[in-house]
Amino acid sequence: MKQLHKNLRKKNKQYIWHPFTQMKDYLESEPTIIDRGEGIFLIDVDGNRFYDGVSSLWVNVHGHSNSDINNAIIDQIKKISHSTLLGQANVPAVLLAEKIVSITPSNLTRVFYSDSGSEAVEIGLKIAYQYWKLKGKNKKRSFIAMTNAYHGDTIGATSVGGMDLFHATYQDLLFKTCRTPYPDVYRFDGSVEECRIDCLTKLNNLIKSKHDQTAGLIVEPLVQGAAGMILMPDGFMKHIESICIDHNILLLTDEVATGFGRTGKMFACEHDEVKPDIMMIAKGLTGGYLPLAATLTTEAVYSEFLGEYSEKKTFFHGHSYTGNQLGCAAAIANIDLFEKTRLIESLPQKSLLISKRLGELSSHPHVGDIRIKGMMTGIELIKDKNSKLDYPWEEKMGIKVCDECRKQGMIIRPLGNVVVFMPPLVSTNEELSEMISILIKAINIVCK
Ligand SMILES: Cc1ncc(COP(=O)(O)O)c(C=O)c1O
Repeated sequence: MKQLHKNLRKKNKQYIWHPFTQMKDYLESEPTIIDRGEGIFLIDVDGNRFYDGVSSLWVNVHGHSNSDINNAIIDQIKKISHSTLLGQANVPAVLLAEKIVSITPSNLTRVFYSDSGSEAVEIGLKIAYQYWKLKGKNKKRSFIAMTNAYHGDTIGATSVGGMDLFHATYQDLLFKTCRTPYPDVYRFDGSVEECRIDCLTKLNNLIKSKHDQTAGLIVEPLVQGAAGMILMPDGFMKHIESICIDHNILLLTDEVATGFGRTGKMFACEHDEVKPDIMMIAKGLTGGYLPLAATLTTEAVYSEFLGEYSEKKTFFHGHSYTGNQLGCAAAIANIDLFEKTRLIESLPQKSLLISKRLGELSSHPHVGDIRIKGMMTGIELIKDKNSKLDYPWEEKMGIKVCDECRKQGMIIRPLGNVVVFMPPLVSTNEELSEMISILIKAINIVCK
């Protein structure tokens, strides 16, 4: 067995190029190799158990190896694993589309499948762009996106992204977008109300001058995830929605990270009863079991694409695995489990527990903002609390805290100097408390 694991370690370093990873550092480290999962635990090839404190990159909902989801996939595998959705349907894709429509904002009636959040965003952008062309409004060709946005890593998604560290290198490959500030209260010099007014004024001014050239506005509703769990002031999404309506701009909400219970409701849009024209979902759609995503649209958007074949109104887009049966079967089981376990109802209390326990860090000299929305948490590590002086990112403080967490039995991943804590929604109070104890201990050890 030991020899087998030694070989695995060697081959991992020999063959795999890991995402978002400086491979030079990785090759010098002792990486974990996961063998299996049980509930909210990941177990490596040596039998070490780790809490999955980041839900395997924000995707896991009901824990690993859940029998309902496993069985749904196994039952589907016995029938068929995949057939194309191009011009023909399959059973789970049809049943899932109905389910998705029933749980998302009531104006969204059409489901376009894909395989990842980035693709769902590409599709949303292309649909919005083509929609205006089809309406004869050829000038409405550009997008408004938020500062520090993250919508994925493909070229279109990167174009509307705004994180220099990830995106600046590819600048020449990207299409131009207009930026408007995300209401980042923590970095704003003033009160929450002043931040809200400032950001809305800037958005209004931008839209007033650009609305006739703008196809859509894309936003991560309520929480900007990859930017470091930046929280919008309450009601801000409703303002964005009404500005878009007033100026005839499509509202695209990217719920890839916030969807499926993460913010305490099934979708972030529900908090303010926002009704987007286009919505992107992925990550938690299959409960974190298989890659599947969807872009939802209103009937008005969808029907603009209807016409004679010769009119070339078709949405010429699709992927080999679009509407894959296994993914759809997993997603159906995932959504059914939400209902069966009434998971959403348990979230406010869990979120409260997280915020109470993390309150223990509020006087820590190297902990700045602690941002919590539902089951999404970002803890800012800071060099000097009074002057809000950041740790230089090269110091890798976030990475160091996460490495320490791993030693203590929990896997998490940072976003720069922000430690992200995103446990599976199913985590019990006891499990949450134990995970937070590990987190606090690691921060105390690393940030002295
Ligand atoms: C808001 C948001 N949109 C899109 C994506 C991209 O999703 P994927 O990694 O599945 O391509 C992410 C990933 O973290 C995200 O947080």
